[in-house]
Amino acid sequence: MSVRDTPVPDFRVPAFVEQRRSIRAFRPEPVDRDVLDTLIEAACLAPAPHHSRPWRFVVIDTDDAKAALAHGMGARWRDDLARDGIAPEHVAELVQASYTKITAAPALVLACLTWDGLDRYPDEHRRRAEWGMALLSLGAAVENLMLSAADAGLASCWVAAPIFCPEAARDALQLPDAWLPHALVLIGHPDPSYVARERPPVPIEVLRRNL
Ligand SMILES: Cc1cc2nc3c(=O)[nH]c(=O)nc-3n(C[C@H](O)[C@H](O)[C@H](O)COP(=O)(O)O)c2cc1C
Repeated sequence: MSVRDTPVPDFRVPAFVEQRRSIRAFRPEPVDRDVLDTLIEAACLAPAPHHSRPWRFVVIDTDDAKAALAHGMGARWRDDLARDGIAPEHVAELVQASYTKITAAPALVLACLTWDGLDRYPDEHRRRAEWGMALLSLGAAVENLMLSAADAGLASCWVAAPIFCPEAARDALQLPDAWLPHALVLIGHPDPSYVARERPPVPIEVLRRNL
């Protein structure tokens, strides 16, 4: 596809953007490893600050690795919830639900950030801005991955957990110290009985201001 040089008449949101939904239930079949690699390739075509590609992707499709990740992040979440004063039975329920959600997905892609290729600054203000740019680009990469998954007929869902406990996620999988997990994507063939939550209309008049 080339970039068009004339506007499309009556342009609408492209179907492939509209069709991607967060789908949280999967058929049990595995996802082909080559397909997962292609999704990661698509992720890596995302824009990134100064051509850095500060992302690393971990493909997880064995029961042991899924359980290790879910268990490591769950232990950390359990501590956080207990500190919040949540009743222990509710904590146990929440952590178990998260464990089940993660381990039930046929494949996981864990998107990590590194400082590789990023600019280093002596001051905290610019260090945070640089890391923030890397994080924005990780979001773009994950969106590329999920749009491509939808295009391949696969279901996906972004799970926030690792951003709350990057070190726990990293250590659970014995990843290199410099790889800090920030996003988890569940991937599989969609369970046809899953009904995505109704999508509210986009209130463009509220969300956009024309100057
Ligand atoms: C940064 C981020 C974190 C998210 N975390 C979770 C999550 O932890 N669990 C979950 O089920 N969905 C999660 N989602 C999916 C959102 O709930 C979903 O994108 C939103 O409800 C809109 O629905 P749609 O993706 O079907 O359009 C996350 C999405 C984003 C962008």
